Amino acid sequence: MAAIIKIFRNIDELSHYFAEHLASLLKKIPPGHNFSMALSGGSTPEKVFEYLSGNYKDKIEWEKLLIFWGDERCVPPGDHESNFRMAKESLLDKVAVPVNNIFRIKGEEDPRVEAVRYAETVSQRVPMHNGIPRFDLVLLGMGEDGHTASIFPGDLHLFSSEKLFEVAVHPQTKQKRITITGKVINNAAHVIFIATGGSKSEIIERIIDKRPGWENLPASKVQPANGELTWLLDEDAAAKLQLH
Ligand code: 6PG
Repeated sequence: MAAIIKIFRNIDELSHYFAEHLASLLKKIPPGHNFSMALSGGSTPEKVFEYLSGNYKDKIEWEKLLIFWGDERCVPPGDHESNFRMAKESLLDKVAVPVNNIFRIKGEEDPRVEAVRYAETVSQRVPMHNGIPRFDLVLLGMGEDGHTASIFPGDLHLFSSEKLFEVAVHPQTKQKRITITGKVINNAAHVIFIATGGSKSEIIERIIDKRPGWENLPASKVQPANGELTWLLDEDAAAKLQLH
């Protein structure tokens, strides 16, 4: 299935679209059933979360959501680096997602042990498809180097791992991370990339227009087998795309 590309004038319009899309997906979920969503870290997702909590507090069926993370830095939950802390402060403390429906990656634990524990938690809570947990929605950011979640260029073995979650290392800071693998990402029903800003325009063009080397970038490997892939971009990030 070809990727869907949507371009917005700014982050607010992008966030509005995302909010409406999430609301419409949740409306399709029967009462008593859940919608599993894996969150991303990063400053762009953070802006979307702030928009959601500021404008959609009463417009989304938050109680249907099961909240997970696609990656986490191996730090305590209150650390300024924590993706859990970011989502908690920008969104989860402000909307009615039941506390028991929030499943954080425990960044304070031994990474190898936690990657196994979290894979078990996801396997218990997220319905299977082809024997692999199938998230209703995986939200992803993307770095200027083409990384996504915490899978960085040169670590494509983490994307193709047989495991559901792996331990990664940030190439510059050497910070340990726990990351979702491609096995789970590409099994999702919906995958949404959010990327904004001119600094992402070159890498986005390389990936979407399949320029030389595109296939070596982790974000390029996101190709849900039986799901919908959507890129939500602002005009600056999409500036170099050869849209046909
Ligand atoms: C993280 C994210 C990472 C992030 C990208 C984009 O833990 O940092 O998982 O993949 O989404 O680096 O981040 P920005 O939106 O801040 O550019």
